[in-house]
Parts: sequence; C-alpha cells; structure tokens
Amino acid sequence: MTFKTSDNCPYLILAPMEGVGDRCFRKAMASIGGFDEAVTDFIRVPRNAHIKSLARDYQAQETAPIPLAAQIMGSEPDLMAEMAQELERMGAPRIDLNCGCPSNTVTGKGAGSSLLKEPPLLHEIAKAMVQAVSIPVTVKMRSGFDDISLFKENLLAAQESGIRFLTLHPRTKVDGYGPPARWDLIAEAKALLTIPVVGNGDILKVEDAVNMLERTRCDALMIGRGSIINPFIFHQIRAYFTGFAYQPKWSDLERYFEVYLAEFAPDMPNRGRINKMKQLLSFFFKGNAKLLEHRDTILRSNFSEMEPFLNLAIPLLQEGWSG
Ligand SMILES: Cc1cc2nc3c(=O)[nH]c(=O)nc-3n(C[C@H](O)[C@H](O)[C@H](O)COP(=O)(O)O)c2cc1C
Repeated sequence: MTFKTSDNCPYLILAPMEGVGDRCFRKAMASIGGFDEAVTDFIRVPRNAHIKSLARDYQAQETAPIPLAAQIMGSEPDLMAEMAQELERMGAPRIDLNCGCPSNTVTGKGAGSSLLKEPPLLHEIAKAMVQAVSIPVTVKMRSGFDDISLFKENLLAAQESGIRFLTLHPRTKVDGYGPPARWDLIAEAKALLTIPVVGNGDILKVEDAVNMLERTRCDALMIGRGSIINPFIFHQIRAYFTGFAYQPKWSDLERYFEVYLAEFAPDMPNRGRINKMKQLLSFFFKGNAKLLEHRDTILRSNFSEMEPFLNLAIPLLQEGWSG
C-alpha cells in the first residue's frame, strides 16, 4: 500500500485519542481539516460483547469528506474478526487494532498494550481480522510493554498477519508519556518491515514533522496531542511541503469551538460541559507561552453555566492566541 496524496505533503493522520479526542473533537477538527484521515478512539470489544450494539458507536460520516478509520481493542480473535466485519458493513474504510492502550482496565484483560507481551496472540487477532474483511486492517502499537525486548517480534508478528500498514508510537507501556518518543525505533521498524510505517509521537510543530520524516524515513505521519494544542498544525505542515502559504484565522477557531459545543450530548449536565471545555482549553493554554499565565484562571473558575464561562475563556484565548 502507498499513501496517495494529491500534493507533495506526506499523508497526515489525526490520532485516536480516547476522552479528549472524542467525536466532538474529531468533528471540530474536521471543520478545520488539513489531514487525510482520522481514526476513532478505541472501541472496546470485551469477551461477552454484543457486536452490533458496540459497533453502533461508529459513524462513518462523522468527519466526512475525510475518511474515518475505526479502531478496536480486544483479545478474542473471533470476536475481533466479527467486530471488524460489522464495522466494514457500517462503512468503515479501515480497521485498526489497538496494541498500545496502557490503561489497567484494558491491559488486565489482555488487550491493548498487553498484546505486546504475546506476539503470537497479536498475530492471531490481526490475522483473524484481515481474513474477515475486504478493507485494510492495520495495527497501532507501542514499542513494548515493560521494555523493548519483543519489539522486532511484535513488528514481524503484525506484518505477517497481512496488515496493510503499521503505526508506531515508540514508547513502552511502562514509559506512559514520560520520556521522549524514540524516533530511532521508527527508523528501525521502517528498515525491518516491508509494509509502510506511520510515525507517531511528539510532533508538536512543523519542524518536528520534517525532522521525523528525515530521521525515520517513515511513510506517513500521525499527530495526536499536537493537534489539540494547535488544531491548525496539519494545514501548517501541508503549507511547508506544498509551498502554499497558510494563515490560521480566528474565525476558523471560532467555528471549531461552535462545532465542538454543538456535538455535546443534549442530556449532558452544564458542569460536565464546562469540564469538557476546560479539558480542551487546558491544552491550548498549556501550549502557548502567552496564554499560560491565564491557564489557572480558566481551570479554577467555578461557573455553573456555559455562557459566563465562555465569556471569560474565549476573549483570553483570542487575545493571547497567535494565528
Ligand atoms: C488522551 C489520550 C488518549 C489516547 N487514546 C488512544 C486510543 O484510543 N487509541 C490509541 O491507539 N492511542 C491512543 N492514544 C495515543 C495517541 O494516539 C498517540 O499514539 C500518542 O498520544 C502519541 O502521539 P502524540 O505525541 O502525537 O500525541 C491516546 C493518547 C492520549 C493523549
């Protein structure tokens, strides 16, 4: 598989991010655009799963016209294959197997990053999924569980299952998000595998994207937290590679927030809505030196209605934001 792009820009993927990177975020990001594909946060497939009701969470049109891959997480090959089939039926263009989630509730049951302790099981699950569907199946993995001793085995187990490409977030489960992502491992994966490798981890600005490509020779880029901090990052990377100027506009950011807020569940309490907005805004305020001084004011504010909260937060953001 090659990643087709219509310009000179590498293929750009919006990373799956459970919680903060939910449907509201993906839709808001799609209103700004600049990326070639998005991925859902993981859909858990537990042992007693009722596949049809679990798959209902997936909405193929959510980020249209940008394709939305579905990511699933589980440890039962048959159920995972069945889930992949159901998602294909619902219009998913690609199914991704999660081999990276560090959460204990997940790893306790042998899924997510726990699969990295058992390359044969990783292989079996991915192969069952590949054989069940006609769309591409892919794997997104960390570099290991406790350490990287099974790194190569895991890469090869994934490739030999017939997947189309592999995304690597080069930290172990034990690393969490602490130490810097080891881009040298992306280069190693690229040298070892014949399938394409998507590089992921610590791309926060255009320069990082350029450096990762240069240092690893990876085939495409995936960006997570960098896009919450700066939703224009994909356009800015694209501008660098295509030579077309791009200037982020405040009106685009306003629309981003409108889309984000419009997606809240109608029955969500005000406090919940405000907390969600705080979570999103904390990334903006953390990622910008001018905004950092206002971060505590926003996070410690105690409103029970959204409007006064926005009346405080948005002007501060607008003032400090540098497009
Ligand atoms: C809040 C959060 C939730 C995440 N949820 C998922 C997930 O559902 N599936 C997944 O494969 N990775 C998940 N990740 C990992 C990211 O997709 C990505 O691999 C990681 O953040 C490194 O990339 P970045 O430095 O560009 O953020 C999550 C990361 C964060 C910060």
